[in-house]
Amino acid sequence: MTGFSADWLTLREPYDMRARNPKVLDAAAASLEALSSVRVVDLACGTGSTLRALGPLLPAQQSWKLIDNDLGLLARAKATPLAKHVTVTAIPLDLNRDLEAALDGPVDLVATSALLDLVSETWLDRLAVEIAARSIPLYAALSYDGRIGFTPSDPLDAAITAAVNAHQRTDKGFGPALGPAAAAFAIARFEALGYSVVHGASDWAMEPDDRDMQTEILAGWASAAHDMGALSLADITAWHTRRRDAVAAGCSSLRVGHVDFFATPSATR
Ligand SMILES: C[S@@+](CC[C@H](N)C(=O)[O-])C[C@H]1O[C@@H](n2cnc3c(N)ncnc32)[C@H](O)[C@@H]1O
Repeated sequence: MTGFSADWLTLREPYDMRARNPKVLDAAAASLEALSSVRVVDLACGTGSTLRALGPLLPAQQSWKLIDNDLGLLARAKATPLAKHVTVTAIPLDLNRDLEAALDGPVDLVATSALLDLVSETWLDRLAVEIAARSIPLYAALSYDGRIGFTPSDPLDAAITAAVNAHQRTDKGFGPALGPAAAAFAIARFEALGYSVVHGASDWAMEPDDRDMQTEILAGWASAAHDMGALSLADITAWHTRRRDAVAAGCSSLRVGHVDFFATPSATR
């Protein structure tokens, strides 16, 4: 599975769904409850995970603009079964180039998930400035924050985690990525722009039975560690083998740290 493949997004969606921070989701939903209809823009929608997570909590009358640069993912997002008064428009856009176009027109909420850790400081600053200029709230879920908990522990876990986090900071198409620093940067930036921010953890929790998800993640981390070159192939392979053996034996658990936040223009601004 590749980084943004439909198969990977499908595998991770139930973990994302369970992880989404309920306090942050509730704050986003509560901010829109007085509206008779809501217009949402979902940046980097993938197959539509945020539509499925947030849509049921919003007023019945909804129109969503789903934005992504991957036509295959957009087609899957557009195929999401919708409640009666929900409409979606799928819009292919490169958000690195055309962010402002994605925010054009009347919008009540900008939403995104698993995007901010991919973007650069420059792009995230641009997003914050463009959203604040329009006085729109932002719901941003599932930004990886660099914390990984392994059970059982292994002597190479810390070195692998460091390599994974270094890989997270490489360019994902938006310039050098903020990776684990993204959510904290964004929260501080929105607060500086006069926004109130509700935030909380949205960690993935994988139990011993979650073998497919663990297997996929461990393979991705081994590959990322190899790309970074700080560890020998022999060390990475030995670590990966011990970890896969633990998964196969049904004694492996993983916790992966994420942060959700909802930022809304302060009334006193
Ligand atoms: C990790 S996935 C998250 C997808 C979805 N939001 C979710 O939570 O399942 C990142 C998404 O960003 C999209 N993406 C990456 N670079 C992009 C760009 N330059 N413009 C638009 N979308 C982009 C990918 O196609 C992918 O759908």
